[in-house]
Amino acid sequence: MLWKTVLLLALVDPVLVLENGLLRKPPMGWLAWERFRCNINCDEDPKNCISERLFMEMADRLAQDGWRDLGYTYLNIDDCWIGGRDAQGYLVPDPKRFPNGIAFLADYVHSLGLQLGIYEDIGNFTCMGYPGTTLDKIIQDAQTFAKWKVDMLKLDGCFSTRQERAKGYPLMAAALNATGRPIAFSCSWPAYEGGLPPKVDYSLLAKICNLWRNYDDIQDSWTSVLSILDWFVAHQDILQPVAGPGHWNDPDMLLIGNFGLSFEQARAQMALWTVLAAPLFMSTDLRTISAQNVDILQNPLMIKINQDPLGIQGRRILKEKSLIEVFLRPLINDAFALVFFSRRTDMPYRFHSSLARLNITCSGLYEAQDVYTGAVISGLQPETIFTVIVNPSGVVMWYLYPIKKPGISQQ
Ligand SMILES: *[C@@H]1O[C@H](CO)[C@@H](O)[C@H](O)[C@H]1NC(C)=O
Ligand SMILES: *[C@@H]1O[C@H](CO)[C@@H](O)[C@H](O)[C@H]1NC(C)=O
Ligand SMILES: *[C@@H]1O[C@H](CO)[C@@H](O)[C@H](O)[C@H]1NC(C)=O
Repeated sequence: MLWKTVLLLALVDPVLVLENGLLRKPPMGWLAWERFRCNINCDEDPKNCISERLFMEMADRLAQDGWRDLGYTYLNIDDCWIGGRDAQGYLVPDPKRFPNGIAFLADYVHSLGLQLGIYEDIGNFTCMGYPGTTLDKIIQDAQTFAKWKVDMLKLDGCFSTRQERAKGYPLMAAALNATGRPIAFSCSWPAYEGGLPPKVDYSLLAKICNLWRNYDDIQDSWTSVLSILDWFVAHQDILQPVAGPGHWNDPDMLLIGNFGLSFEQARAQMALWTVLAAPLFMSTDLRTISAQNVDILQNPLMIKINQDPLGIQGRRILKEKSLIEVFLRPLINDAFALVFFSRRTDMPYRFHSSLARLNITCSGLYEAQDVYTGAVISGLQPETIFTVIVNPSGVVMWYLYPIKKPGISQQ
């Protein structure tokens, strides 16, 4: 019965399932995968294996170390939590690693003012070979997640066919909606179709998913960050317009706090992801992260820009022969975020420009705040030449806002 109703909803009127009201701003939180992968070796590595203990300890850190209060509220499980299915076909977590079950973990997370995300896969198996959510299991699994009080589902696409994905993702959206529990929906669908039209229908995605992975998984290296950035920039004419409140492109997790990025590169990833209106999912050990990396991730002005209510994704507006690139994101109240990014590998570069050269031609006076140093650059008129000094594989990031002229009353 329910199956037929949901099927009908999905086929006849997909618009009916589109607005769950969630993620009006890019989601922020912590996701296990990049740092902790499928480490299930709890005998040798009890502190770091995918287990209830790991998630409870990260939840404690999110709540106690200032993360939650800055907006990092999602604690998301990734692959390798599943133990199997019971006699009735219901998913059960690994009994040894999640002895108290997922509902217990959700209650714990909620008691700390956080939200719990979980992971499944619209195929025969998850990417690491655990039982998947095949088409006949969609409604049952959606109900299970709702019963456990899960708040977000990442649905991966390994071991599925194109046809199964085309049926499965809209069906899961409808099934989540039918549970009555608001569950944010993260779809890996486009990443399995090459990320581009005509194979990917972004207007459909925006109707059924709150965020989606467009491209490859991030790995713990600067090369990986650049390859993702390059792909997003190469296709920004397609990708930039499809993002907005409730539906986001997801270039994948932040590496900050791990092993592959230098200090400059960590700052660069944070700035670039922010200007791209990307979800901010950390994937690092919050028990041991350095103060320097905490500062990057907890920069209040950075977070304010990422969470700007207009939800407009930024674009690369300039690529200079000097290997300096400029990214721009429009923000509420006629403000902008500007990222000056260096691909140089020699030394800090003095980049000269003006707002007019960047086509920021609104009349009047602007002021900028350097997002990392806090320095204020005042008296910026369209033709004012300014200089920013950008370190190799680093950024300078500005929050640029108009100054109301004294004596002119607000209209
Ligand atoms: C999934 O499993 C079914 C049943 O064993 C099989 O027919 C199908 O080819 C599998 N699909 C994929 C994508 O591996
Ligand atoms: C289900 O969809 C309807 C119609 O779009 C929406 O009003 C409602 O809030 C959704 N409910 C949930 C739980 O997502
Ligand atoms: C500024 O606008 C001109 C004319 O549309 C365009 O050719 C140029 O590429 C733009 N520059 C930037 C930095 O956006």
